[in-house]
Amino acid sequence: MVVVKGPSAFVSTAIDAALQAGKLLQQMLPESRASKDVATKRNPSDFVTRGDRMAEALIARMLRERFPDHGILAEEGTSHAGAEYRWIIDPIDGTTNFVHGVPLFAVSIALEQRQELVAGVIYHPSMDELFGAERGRGAFLRHGEHQEPLKVSGIGEVTQSMVATGQPHDVEETGRNVAQIERLAHTASVRITGSAALHLAYVAAGRLEAFWEPGLSSWDYAAGALLVMEAGGRISDMQGRTFHLDCHDVLATNGRIHDEMVRLLA
Ligand code: 2AM
Ligand code: CA
Repeated sequence: MVVVKGPSAFVSTAIDAALQAGKLLQQMLPESRASKDVATKRNPSDFVTRGDRMAEALIARMLRERFPDHGILAEEGTSHAGAEYRWIIDPIDGTTNFVHGVPLFAVSIALEQRQELVAGVIYHPSMDELFGAERGRGAFLRHGEHQEPLKVSGIGEVTQSMVATGQPHDVEETGRNVAQIERLAHTASVRITGSAALHLAYVAAGRLEAFWEPGLSSWDYAAGALLVMEAGGRISDMQGRTFHLDCHDVLATNGRIHDEMVRLLA
């Protein structure tokens, strides 16, 4: 008899937290900037809102109740140490879109066990799409009652690919990124939606063949990295070197176009 196990307590708790946070944010999306309480952080394009803080507090509270021994690292400052496990949370990935009322943002929650990713969930409230993965157990997409396994695309040519990037927040990086976009635009379709987490989920889902972005933090890509790996794709830094949670530059692909992307981005 084949016993098909449901999601672990880790993933089901992350799903509950991401759904609750996402629904709260979706309700807040049409509100004015004043009502969202928009403020800037390190630079004029680096926003934080009441939505980021409320979603982060809600997620951290749910995870702490369920797993009091686990550590937490979250973009808006929630941080406490844990012995073996640590949750890595981005309450809104795509805050600039959220501020502008553009429905391209996601909630990203990952779990690492001694520096190794073991679970990841990305929820896109506007589409009600929940992407999830567990180490060694594959990746899935849940939409309402329907759930399907995720697999990266089989396209092997950059000329037939749709690839995405993110706009860096550092002036020097911007020049390099524009040159990379120009190079890629001669061969592939290039997209920039403003959410690294969504781009990674779409690579895992076979909708995009590749995504690269410099200057990210672990909360932007932790859940998405596991999704890509579990869907059969490849993730590295932009030079093709081994991925780890201290990376700032990431390249995620369906695997088949990885080496060519490394060459094109160099
Ligand atoms: P965020 O919305 O959580 O900040 C867009 O290019 C991607 O870069 C998003 O995933 C965004 O995540 C991330 N990012 C990192 N630093 C940023 C910054 N200073 N301003 C805006 N987005 C930033
Ligand atoms: Ca964020």
